[in-house]
Amino acid sequence: ATSARAQAAAFDFEPIGIATDFDIHVPAGYQWKPLVRWGDALFSEADGAYSAETGVPVDMSDKVFGENTDGMETFEVDGRTVLAINSEYVNPKINLPEASEGMPQSEEEVRLLKNMQGVTVLEVADSGNGYEVVVDSPFNRRITHETQMTMDGPAAGSDLVKTNADPDGMSSIGTMNNCGSGKTLWGTYLTCEENFNGYFGATGDYEETDGIKRYGIGAEGRYAYEKFDPRYDLSQEPNEPNRHGWVTEIDPSDASSVPVKHTALGRFKHENAEMVQAEDGRIVVYMGDDERGEFMYKYVSNGTWAEGEPTEGLLSDGTLYVAKFNDDQTGEWLPLTPETTGMEMAEMLVFARMAGSKVGATTMDRPEWIAANPLRCEAYCALTNNKNRGIKPNAGGDETPVGGPNPREANNYGQIVRWWPTGEDHGAETFTWDLYVMAGNPEVHEGMMGGSANVTPGNMFNSPDGMAFDTKGMLWIQTDGDDDNEGDFAGMGNNQMLVGNPETGEIARFLTAPNGAEVTGLTWSPDRKVAFVGIQHPGGSWPDGEGKPRSSVISVWREDGEALG
Ligand code: FEO
Ligand code: CA
Ligand code: CA
Ligand code: CA
Repeated sequence: ATSARAQAAAFDFEPIGIATDFDIHVPAGYQWKPLVRWGDALFSEADGAYSAETGVPVDMSDKVFGENTDGMETFEVDGRTVLAINSEYVNPKINLPEASEGMPQSEEEVRLLKNMQGVTVLEVADSGNGYEVVVDSPFNRRITHETQMTMDGPAAGSDLVKTNADPDGMSSIGTMNNCGSGKTLWGTYLTCEENFNGYFGATGDYEETDGIKRYGIGAEGRYAYEKFDPRYDLSQEPNEPNRHGWVTEIDPSDASSVPVKHTALGRFKHENAEMVQAEDGRIVVYMGDDERGEFMYKYVSNGTWAEGEPTEGLLSDGTLYVAKFNDDQTGEWLPLTPETTGMEMAEMLVFARMAGSKVGATTMDRPEWIAANPLRCEAYCALTNNKNRGIKPNAGGDETPVGGPNPREANNYGQIVRWWPTGEDHGAETFTWDLYVMAGNPEVHEGMMGGSANVTPGNMFNSPDGMAFDTKGMLWIQTDGDDDNEGDFAGMGNNQMLVGNPETGEIARFLTAPNGAEVTGLTWSPDRKVAFVGIQHPGGSWPDGEGKPRSSVISVWREDGEALG
């Protein structure tokens, strides 16, 4: 009780216990309710389109909120509140008719799945009864696997991104597997394309290049798109995968704006994009590549920026770096250039993983979200887990030795690494680092598998993934791990959201998700009185209590009306 009270004092809430049910739990004095669920209408013509038995009909599928919510950000546009929210992937068994047995059987069914993913932009307003979606708002928009985009930066227009449909290699279609997010300093949305590889397949012969292998692209697409759409067929459009795996910028203030894929930030399985600024005003974007044995990156613009100045070139003209962590808790950002990699500029960006291998970057335990502390010059990356160390994730990947920020051989639990840029400058090319937390189970294991000193039987968790700092400098941590509550994971319960104090190292559990779900995506209302939290792939019949489970964004607020975060 004493330690719980001490934590309550530090955190402004009474930490909660684990849960194993199909519900959401928050601390005493807090409330929650759904803000928007998979299938909810963005436009009145889709009102009532969602059915608890059959889901969403194909003709309404681009007029409703997508499935499997992930990263999101809040924007203030002319005094109105606009959210941009990723829909990472789709569960075919939930979306398709039962007769289809979980795989699309027609072009129509492929279209339904394409429309349920991508990005949703929507306006919300507090009507006095909490935040609700503003149906028919001029800001409301769906961006899907079929939305027209452009590309910029050194790889745009190169032979590697040219296709039959786009011989100039400048206008890509669709953004896919939109995982984490970012917000630019000038008020636009960054959506990050993660496991794009799984959308491609082949109906005939194709060349298994080093690049195809390193990025895990194979003959069988996870949703059989290639059988119904030649754009996803490697035997017809071998360069189409090179047009995905980028950080894509969307202007949420203009529903007719064309999203831009920024090739200068490199192509890999992007988790999120955390933008900060160097001391001299250059733009810095930290990024993780979520795959066992892949790398952490940062992009630094050549130009500088200050409020009110033009943003031209800031995300298309700069240097991409990859992280090298030394065992003595120092580290370096290694620049990727034609000189350091021996690769041509476009090739180096399209195959950034191969460029990282050439300069000797450090293989990591799956870098997920990166979050920078707004109150001091430091950043954190969730290294979610690495259950199969030594098994190369993709042909051509590097060895993955134990060491540095990846200290455990069989890493079921994950850890969070943090670094301090030299001279308190995010533009610096060197840093020092430590592990903020090493997750573990102190009731089941001793030593490193029991976790670091700030892990206790009262706050245990595994597989940190989503992270965001609030304005008070507290680190919110979301998990995407094993929720069986058995064996190595006994006592951890469902996936959860915790709050970490960077100063003291203390971590306290704030929210538990329904069984089956991961918690991913966190943003706040402009007045910070409401937190918006993403609940992805829930089990049971959450949140409706009957029918299909519905991935949703929820609102969480304090009963006393005070700000949280
Ligand atoms: Fe989509 Fe790495 O999480
Ligand atoms: Ca994630
Ligand atoms: Ca994850
Ligand atoms: Ca996920």
